Amino acid sequence: MHKVLQVCSECYPAAKAGGMGDVVGALPIYLPLHDIEASVIIPKYKTKWITDQKFKKLYSGSFTLDGMKQKFIVEQATTKVVNFPLYCIDLPGLFDRPSIYLAEDGHGYKDEPKRNIAFQTAVVEWLIKSKEKYDLIHVHDHMTGLIPFFMQYCPKYKTLKNIPSVLTVHNGSYTGAFEWKEVESMLPKYTKADEGLLDWDAQVNSLGAAVKCAWSVTTVSPSYMTELIAASGTLTPLYHSEIAKCQGVLNGIDDNLWDPATDSYIVDHYSGNWKKFKYANKAYLQDKFNLYKRRPIIGFIGRFVYQKGADLLMKAIIESLQKKMKFNAIILGSGEKDLEDELTSLNKNYPREVGAYVGYSERLARRIYAGCDFLVMPSRFEPCGLNQLYSMRYGTIPIASHVGGLIDTVVDISKKGQGIVIKELNEDNIVLALERAITLYKDKKAMSQLIESNGNLNHSWAKSAGTYAKLYSKYLNYKTIKND
Ligand code: GLC
Repeated sequence: MHKVLQVCSECYPAAKAGGMGDVVGALPIYLPLHDIEASVIIPKYKTKWITDQKFKKLYSGSFTLDGMKQKFIVEQATTKVVNFPLYCIDLPGLFDRPSIYLAEDGHGYKDEPKRNIAFQTAVVEWLIKSKEKYDLIHVHDHMTGLIPFFMQYCPKYKTLKNIPSVLTVHNGSYTGAFEWKEVESMLPKYTKADEGLLDWDAQVNSLGAAVKCAWSVTTVSPSYMTELIAASGTLTPLYHSEIAKCQGVLNGIDDNLWDPATDSYIVDHYSGNWKKFKYANKAYLQDKFNLYKRRPIIGFIGRFVYQKGADLLMKAIIESLQKKMKFNAIILGSGEKDLEDELTSLNKNYPREVGAYVGYSERLARRIYAGCDFLVMPSRFEPCGLNQLYSMRYGTIPIASHVGGLIDTVVDISKKGQGIVIKELNEDNIVLALERAITLYKDKKAMSQLIESNGNLNHSWAKSAGTYAKLYSKYLNYKTIKND
């Protein structure tokens, strides 16, 4: 079996801040179905999960970072909870913090460039020494985007030069662009003539460097790839010039972890009867949030950031409730402080119509997927989006904007699709979509047919992992791809 190493800043259940963590925690479980053995390496944070695990030490080393000696230890989690080799790199002083990206003030850590460079350098330092040999290195987003450059253009790592690398872009709006003068002294030595590969707009651009140096570039849905090539800020011409090696691969979901028949977080399990399942799970939400009965519940789960459109949604909900539209909403999320405050006051002003939870709770999130009638995703952009896939699997109908992965997974019901599509995203069109949801909710037959057909869709990773395996195979030159 060929061996692929996934290098990422997140991996569920060890460390997850968003969908990328889910992806990197699921893909390695499904790749062996396609004759690929996958391991994952992440920084050793002080998350609760990591703190609770036992690790065995595999390698310890050091390298020079900003003129100082930086020690690192590569450890392997000995847990049986994850079914693939999970390695964590302990980088004392840099990652031994409970949060993955955010400092206590809610903003990104100030030493982000140093942390990123240190982790990436430790990975390649380990790779040149390690007994484990990999046939391909798969990096994810800008946090690991310098690795393809390090492998090919740093003389110290020349033994890695011919190992193929793949970049997956989960969110192209973060590029890991840093001032040269800030990071120059932190980077491992490279040949001066190759400096241009790191540079974009007179900065070191981690994502840009990966787009240039990785053998293949994927993003998490075909439509998002089209969008990146059409308009991705200053990187647009770069995607254009690398178009031949760019491909969209739609994410899957781990349908063992996300199974309404067995999910231990939800209050009632699916056993062949959607009506019973939805009734029990909805009753729980109505009670918990003390909401009016006999109304559709529309859920939202997501970070309060520009991308996710929670600001537009909250305005649209107020407008709809002022118009006396009859629905309930449950919003779970955190992020921008103004929006957290807005949600709290929305809940105060409409206590029987709006349920609110500021923060993140995996348990409550799953109960929302299971108990709502609709889940709304008013994203301004959405590389793939997993919530629409989770919700359909739990019998909840998506209401989604028409961007990125949402285009590829949610077609409007007027075209015999899966949900309600907001073609052009703005506050008024969200109100119209909510109106359509209320009308649909009254048509019990149409609702139950839709729930049933959405529940039967196959968005399993088994399928998507096959697409990755095929892509890897271009470089690995092996013959058998199973289940093809
Ligand atoms: C990022 C994207 C999201 C995608 C996820 C997993 O969080 O914003 O759209 O589903 O990564 O790839």
